[in-house]
Parts: sequence; structure tokens; C-alpha cells
Amino acid sequence: MSKPLKGVVLAGGTGSRLYPLTKVTNKHLLPVGRYPMIFHPLLRLQEAGVTQIAIVTSPEHMGDVVNLLGSGRELGVDLTYRVQDQPLGIAQALGLCENFAGNNPLVTVLGDNILEDSLAPQAEAYHKQDGGARILLKKVPDPERYGVPRMEGDQIVEIIEKPADPPSSFAVTGIYFYDTQVFDFIRQLSPSRRGEFEVSDVNSCYVRNSRLTYGTLDGWWGDAGTIQGWHEANALARNLVYESYPSGERR
Ligand code: DAU
Repeated sequence: MSKPLKGVVLAGGTGSRLYPLTKVTNKHLLPVGRYPMIFHPLLRLQEAGVTQIAIVTSPEHMGDVVNLLGSGRELGVDLTYRVQDQPLGIAQALGLCENFAGNNPLVTVLGDNILEDSLAPQAEAYHKQDGGARILLKKVPDPERYGVPRMEGDQIVEIIEKPADPPSSFAVTGIYFYDTQVFDFIRQLSPSRRGEFEVSDVNSCYVRNSRLTYGTLDGWWGDAGTIQGWHEANALARNLVYESYPSGERR
């Protein structure tokens, strides 16, 4: 695969599980460790050499997000913004980035995901595979909070969103590598019972086409989208400093 990866950071949604912290601000602007939450996915992408990045957020919060990030220059990235009019799900938000992607492959990171590992080796692994999708898994004690893969041997045969009875102890993290076929799959989706276009259904399309690979994260990983997750992420990221963006004093 020769074309460079472009990045997408999804920062829409309602943040209802963090209410009232999110009453007047977007979830992704809340602090996690030394940074606003959204810096974490952006700086992990930047470190991996992904600098053309689209951010999707809601109309209510676009102004604040742009006030914080501007063109992206301070973070060493080149930002494009897309408005998601209604929180119709992760897959629908990603679908808004089709023109941005053009013919390039994408790495999509959910704006509330915080991770210790560099994404550079994962991006390299994706470049070596022949298109398709690559997702990243993390072993967790509470998989029912996440999308969960059902495995047969070392193959993923199904991905189930927040299963009551998880078929494995892995969470599907919010970091997804896709080729441009993702947009065809998104067009084919129907809303789930909770009325959202689910990213797990997108990944299941790749499973059915035998075009899904996966890697695992070695370091810690957190989803800061619930009160419990936000506290856990703050504890994990407490001492995390990105060399490409030293925290502390104003630059
Ligand atoms: O963090 C990993 C998990 O993220 C995965 O294991 C699940 O499969 C995946 O569905 C997702 O679950 P969450 O319950 O954490 O999704 P949430 O609704 O919190 O959305 C995650 C991010 O996606 C959020 O920070 C903003 C963005 N988003 C979400 C929705 C529903 C949007 O940009 N637009 C949306 O409409």
C-alpha cells in the first residue's frame, strides 16, 4: 500500500454518560492527565506520522473545538473539520469523512481513547497488509463495556457490541485502520436497536469479507467516556508527557 494514511478523530456524540461534566462543554475537551482529552488521539496520530487529520464533532461544540485546536499547527498536524448534525453513531460520523479520505487509507481513533503505546508499529503493520481493515484489541476485566470479538482459534469470526455474555475477554479498542471500502460498508448499514450506526457492524462487514486483521496493545488503554472510565484514564495518563508536546508552561 503506497498512499499515506490519513487520520480521523471522532469527537461527536452527546457525552451523556459524563453529565453534568458535559453540560457546557464537549467531553473531548475535559482534562485527562495533563492534556485536554482530544490531545491524546491527536498526538498519538502525529507521533505515528499521520498529520492530515479530520475531526468530527457536533454543531454545539465545533466552536470550542476549533478554539482549542485551530489549524492544528501547535500539535504538528493539519486539521480538517466535519460537522455531525446529529449523534447517529460512530459509523455515521466516519461516513462524513469520505471526501476527506479520497483514495487514501484511514486510521480512525475515537476521541475518548487514551493509550500508552505508540501507533507507529500498528500503522506499519497495516501498510504491509493488502488493504482491508485492522483493529486493535486489549485484554480487559470487563469486556461487556465494549465491542467484543468472538474468536475461533486466532481468527475473529464476529464482533458483538456490548454483549451481556462476552464471548472473549478482549475489548475492541477505538482505533481502526480501514481502506476506502469502509464507506461502501457504511452505506449498507442499518441503525442498531439503540438507533445508531455501529462501528462493530462495520468491522463485521470486514469479517464477512475475510478482510479483517487485528493487533493487540501491550501498554495500558482506556476509554474515558464514562465516569469510571474517565477516572481510570486520568490515573493511567497522570504522568504521561508527549515529547512532541511538552505539557506545563504555555508555549
Ligand atoms: O472505546 C472503545 C469502544 O468505543 C468500542 O469497544 C465499542 O465497540 C464502540 O462502539 C465504542 O463504544 P462507546 O460506548 O465508548 O462509544 P461512544 O458512544 O462513547 O462513542 C465513542 C466516541 O465516538 C465518542 O468519544 C465520540 C464519537 N462519536 C460517538 C457517537 C455515538 C461520534 O463522533 N458521533 C456519534 O454519533
